[in-house]
Amino acid sequence: MEWRTFWMTICVMILYVSISSYVVQSRMNNYDPDYLDSFIHEYTFKKIKEQNPVTGTLYNISLPWNFSGIDVSFVRLRTGRFRKNGANYGFFRIPPKIHTLPYVKRLDIIYQNLGNWSSYYYNVPNHTFVAPVIGFLAYDSDSSIDKGKLLLSIARDPIEVHFPSIDLPEDFQNLELKCVRFGHDGVVGFSNVTKASTCVVRDQGHFSIVVPSKSGKTNRKGWEWWMVGVVAGASALFLLVFCPVVAYKSYRLNRIRKMEKQSERSEALDSIYIGSSRMPSAQGIRTQPVLENSYVP
Ligand SMILES: *[C@@H]1O[C@H](CO)[C@@H](O)[C@H](O)[C@H]1NC(C)=O
Ligand SMILES: *[C@@H]1O[C@H](CO)[C@@H](O)[C@H](O)[C@H]1NC(C)=O
Ligand SMILES: *[C@@H]1O[C@H](CO)[C@@H](O)[C@H](O)[C@H]1NC(C)=O
Ligand SMILES: *[C@@H]1O[C@H](CO)[C@@H](O)[C@H](O)[C@H]1NC(C)=O
Ligand SMILES: *[C@@H]1O[C@H](CO)[C@@H](O)[C@H](O)[C@H]1NC(C)=O
Repeated sequence: MEWRTFWMTICVMILYVSISSYVVQSRMNNYDPDYLDSFIHEYTFKKIKEQNPVTGTLYNISLPWNFSGIDVSFVRLRTGRFRKNGANYGFFRIPPKIHTLPYVKRLDIIYQNLGNWSSYYYNVPNHTFVAPVIGFLAYDSDSSIDKGKLLLSIARDPIEVHFPSIDLPEDFQNLELKCVRFGHDGVVGFSNVTKASTCVVRDQGHFSIVVPSKSGKTNRKGWEWWMVGVVAGASALFLLVFCPVVAYKSYRLNRIRKMEKQSERSEALDSIYIGSSRMPSAQGIRTQPVLENSYVP
């Protein structure tokens, strides 16, 4: 194989890998928490419709394989009963006397446990998660998908979030655990952890527990990013500088060859001049074509 062909193949391969990884990246991994919420809501709504859910019963929803690791469950409640008794499902203790805005007859609560996906969808600058991000969202059961989101009005007792387990790094002893709440527009709110890995909150949303991250950890991450940067930079340099040179050279080589071939051919032909251009012209055709069906227009 000629060296130009070899390098052109390499260039095309790098280009292909770059474009396809970009496409895959933008199609799958733009970890947008709002998109996740609406995806889960829509998916749950579709699944639950087939089951004709009983109010007050918690259903586990299994998401498609590409979200495996995220736990979702669902409960449908009559608003009257919700106000009177609250809702104690999963990791959340929702007390009585909470109102929905606007008023609805029945509400759906969707619980999420993001598990190992937590840090893909959420992060707190300079902090590390020691618990998964869990959340609950309230929707109107009878509204259309895109309009069904409800607000909760909590006048009295707050909601308690009981985290299933906390993974403390060994080198943290008398550390500051903090509850975090992820609000709309990426707002992160902190509060103190109350007894035994419990957070007290006054709204629906997504919650977790964090500790301040140690600089060693960010260093390692920084080092990894540095490596990624070097590889990406080298590939980009290759694509932008080396590949065009190779492409241009082989284009020029091709043209020279074509011109050589053409001039070899044109030597066999006589030339005529049109204006100042020299054009090859054939004197005549040695063998006259014979039409098989002598069709004459
Ligand atoms: C998983 O697949 C669904 C379609 O089945 C798609 O809408 C969604 O974006 C995918 N999610 C991820 C994280 O790949
Ligand atoms: C739902 O899933 C949780 C754990 O993910 C499990 O403990 C519980 O038993 C399941 N409930 C039902 C009704 O399947
Ligand atoms: C989370 O864990 C599940 C298996 O339990 C795996 O299939 C999935 O790919 C993991 N997700 C991420 C983002 O690592
Ligand atoms: C995180 O820590 C770095 C240095 O330790 C600091 O420069 C940066 O402002 C911090 N970021 C936030 C959001 O506090
Ligand atoms: C959290 O606890 C610390 C002391 O343990 C206290 O100084 C601080 O005011 C508390 N913060 C809130 C928001 O309650």
